[in-house]
Amino acid sequence: MRPGPSSERAVIFSPAGRDAEEAAEQIRAVGLYANVCADFPALVREVESGAGAAVMSGAAIKSVDLQPLVAWLAEQPSWSDFPIVLLMDQIGGPEHDPEAAGLVQLLGNVSFIERPFHPTTLISVVGSAVRGRRRQYQTRAILQNLIESKTTLQTALDVGRLGAFEMKIQERRLEASDTFKSFFGRDPDEPLTLEEMEAAIHPDDQARRREAFDTAVMTGQDYNVEYRAVWRDGSVHWINTHATIFRGLDGRPATLIGVAFDVTARKIAEIEREKLVSQLAAERGALAELTATLEQRVGERTAELMKEVAAREKAQEQLRQAQKMESIGQLTGGVAHDFNNLLMAVVGNLELLRKRVPDDPRLYRLIDGALQGAERGASLTQRLLAFARQQDLNPAPIDLGGLVRGMSELLERSLGSRIVLRLSIADDLPPAAIDANQLELAILNLAINARDAMIDGGTIDIKVTKSRVTKDPALPSGNYLKLSVRDTGEGMSPEILAKAIDPFFSTKPLGKGTGLGLSMVHGLAVQLGGALQLASVVGKGTTATLILPIATAPAQIESPAPSSPKQPRSAVILFVDDDPLIAMSTTEMLEDLGHQVIGASSGPHALDILRSDRQIDLMMTDHLMPGMTGIELAAASREVRPRLPVLLATGYADLPEGVSTDVPRLAKPYHQDQLRDRLEQLLG
Ligand SMILES: Nc1ncnc2c1ncn2[C@@H]1O[C@H](COP(=O)(O)OP(=O)(O)OP(=O)(O)O)[C@@H](O)[C@H]1O
Ligand SMILES: [Mg+2]
Repeated sequence: MRPGPSSERAVIFSPAGRDAEEAAEQIRAVGLYANVCADFPALVREVESGAGAAVMSGAAIKSVDLQPLVAWLAEQPSWSDFPIVLLMDQIGGPEHDPEAAGLVQLLGNVSFIERPFHPTTLISVVGSAVRGRRRQYQTRAILQNLIESKTTLQTALDVGRLGAFEMKIQERRLEASDTFKSFFGRDPDEPLTLEEMEAAIHPDDQARRREAFDTAVMTGQDYNVEYRAVWRDGSVHWINTHATIFRGLDGRPATLIGVAFDVTARKIAEIEREKLVSQLAAERGALAELTATLEQRVGERTAELMKEVAAREKAQEQLRQAQKMESIGQLTGGVAHDFNNLLMAVVGNLELLRKRVPDDPRLYRLIDGALQGAERGASLTQRLLAFARQQDLNPAPIDLGGLVRGMSELLERSLGSRIVLRLSIADDLPPAAIDANQLELAILNLAINARDAMIDGGTIDIKVTKSRVTKDPALPSGNYLKLSVRDTGEGMSPEILAKAIDPFFSTKPLGKGTGLGLSMVHGLAVQLGGALQLASVVGKGTTATLILPIATAPAQIESPAPSSPKQPRSAVILFVDDDPLIAMSTTEMLEDLGHQVIGASSGPHALDILRSDRQIDLMMTDHLMPGMTGIELAAASREVRPRLPVLLATGYADLPEGVSTDVPRLAKPYHQDQLRDRLEQLLG
């Protein structure tokens, strides 16, 4: 009810004469409102409907039932203290007048006016009563406002599920709403002290919460913090708090008032999201790494495959090269063998012819020319056989260092003055298992190649060392001797280097080089159980390296063969050869040496002769013959004539691999002197 004419009026009840009307007029005269009530119940009704004060005569209320008014007064709301003005005929004050005291007791806010009174007394008393009532109305309005805003606040707190709290900072006392308490797992009727609240905060969040509180107290800043509350059942709940510091009259922080809300669901969602995000990031990272390493792995695998392909191609190339060399070797060997036999006949016949022609210098020159040609042909054949690894070799333990030193004079002569020769020979070298003559030839070949590559002069280094070979496809692992010939010449391009060993490959002008030098050196090294390696850089020079096997027996000291006095001795010689041309020329040579020759054209034929009782001092046989080889014949002859000396004439290292023979040999083509010397040795 708003204050206004009805709520601020004075309601008057005075049944005697014109009392009530007069009082009403006096009141109205000063601008207040007034109503006259016909009887007491009317007054009570008016009061109930709203009034500023009641004016009653003391005499009149004695005769009425006050109960309805008393009941209404007792029921007044807290803001209301309804004023009543009593007009008394006589009054002694409440303390002397028991009646008045009873009325005060009964009606509460009572003012007495004693008759007769001056109108101003009435006006001032009623005026102050109405003003008092007006203040009550104001209080009511304020109270109502308060209640309304409190309700609004509560509604807001309830709807937002906000917990409210107030903390007395100095007293360390906490007042918390039911909702706030529920955030700590407390029922509305359970207490929650500040100590309990602080103790319930998660240990990991204590420091953060403490810091926020201290900052708020020290600076007056708002207290905004999020922390976890651990309930008595162990469950964890996230609480978000916003509060403000209020200062007391002394200016010091007195209270912290604020709200809090449970953000557990949001926090869990956040944590879940963060987990998902980091999981996603990790997965993405892993994927990226996978992609990256995939590329790398593909790259690596490709490189590996490329390497494998290259290695395979290289191996195939090496195989092709080896097969090519092998077939060229076979072809060359076959040709050289036949050629050798022919030369045998040519040389033999020429030598005999020279002895028998009349003493004419012109004829001698012609024959010598023919012999020289045959000689060159023989050396060519020798190289071919060497390349074909079909040389007749006599490997023996040789001091390689000594051999090289012994060659230095010959080499210097062959190289000429513009070339410096340097030797470097390691100490304590084991003996090499080599054929000394053939190896000298090989070194000479390498030195000449080096010389030819240094038209303007240069240096040749010949070095002999020990060497260990491992992981070489062409050689069994082990210890070897290494002989290298290094020059400072023009070098070879990779294309030339690849072909240098091929027989008949030469870059030298026609007639200057046969292209068989390196072929021979290579064949020799391989036949000895070693290898030839070439390395070259155009413009820098070439190094040719011979890898040679080490001998198991100590080196032979090369002692000059004692020149035995030649006592020509005539013997009966069984000569076996399937080639009539050779047979003819050798027979001539033997007879020329004063021997008697019995010819046989095959092994079985020779055996027949051996079985006869004819005198035979020595059997000389070719090796490669149809039906029976020379070695087989030699073995068979032992059964017939055990002590008969046998000489195997061979230009062809055609003994099957692994088979060695103790049968003395003579290499084709041979000169008459060589034949003579060998026969003398055997015939003793
Ligand atoms: N030390 C070297 N420096 C440069 N090139 C070389 C060397 N040795 C050999 N060659 C090259 O290898 C080719 C073949 O050499 P190889 O000894 O087999 O035959 P040649 O020397 O040409 O003939 P020949 O040895 O019969 O005189 C040579 O023509 C040359 O092109
Ligand atoms: Mg050469």
